[in-house]
Amino acid sequence: MSELSVNHLLGIKYLNKQDIDLIFKTADHFKEVINRPIKKVPSLRDVTIANLFFENSTRTKLSFELAQKRLSADVINFSSAQSSVKKGETLIDTVNNILSMKVDMLVMRHPNPGAGVFLSKHVNACIINAGDGAHEHPTQALLDSYSIREKLGEVVGKNVVIVGDILHSRVALSNIFALQLQGANVMVCGPKTLIPKHIEKLGVKVETNLKKALNWCDVANMLRVQNERMAISYFPSTREYTQQFGLNKTLLNSLDKEITVMHPGPINRGVEITSDVADSNQAIILNQVENGVAIRMAVIYLLASKIKQ
Ligand code: NCD
Repeated sequence: MSELSVNHLLGIKYLNKQDIDLIFKTADHFKEVINRPIKKVPSLRDVTIANLFFENSTRTKLSFELAQKRLSADVINFSSAQSSVKKGETLIDTVNNILSMKVDMLVMRHPNPGAGVFLSKHVNACIINAGDGAHEHPTQALLDSYSIREKLGEVVGKNVVIVGDILHSRVALSNIFALQLQGANVMVCGPKTLIPKHIEKLGVKVETNLKKALNWCDVANMLRVQNERMAISYFPSTREYTQQFGLNKTLLNSLDKEITVMHPGPINRGVEITSDVADSNQAIILNQVENGVAIRMAVIYLLASKIKQ
């Protein structure tokens, strides 16, 4: 297969296994490109991309922008904090104004779940979801699986536990879909209050004892507590959360086997993960960030080739 089954990347939910294989194969090529002295290819000289960020971002925004520049696309950046959204303009009006400047593709992060799907039904442009509220973050899940494949050889059959605030995390849901498509076994672990009711219907195991979860897994993906999405407190105190669900070196060294540790960032050092774990050679956190550029180049390249048809 040489093209994606979709015209937008709105969520992992809309992809199939062949799409993921194609994205990884394409990312392998771009990973080689970004490690050359000249880290750039002319592939998208005729494509203009707008990055629309209605929510804060460091890694994802920079990674998308670098990916676009390394493909030689023209790039414009929009951040809602400095825009006319503050003056009452609707999302569709904002986007249609941007599109009338001959923009081909939109990368959008938005606090509302489903914002990308909504936009894809109302405007005429290719859309990549860079995180929609607590719903999906598809490129993060792709780079996470790609990093597991790079470290462990393959994703199929691997036991992956996602630890922390599953309830408010778009990284968790996209990872569940992506890992399952590739035949991994997925477990979620965290305080009961931060695990959605009936999540086992998605085919994942649920565990509230971190040590048991870590002894089961090959890979632990440690998530940040999404305080910005919480109007009330979901656990007694940060100290108590760290005692029960924080990963530290003593716990890591007490396990039966050597596991791989991941984190999507931003890390809250000393809360969900201690510095000696985050900076250890069992952690692949910076490899995830490096792979993010290659994955985003692959996604943008494959979607742009569909616009050109
Ligand atoms: C995540 C996000 O924004 O969803 N970060 C990221 O994109 N690398 C996770 C988080 O904010 O905790």
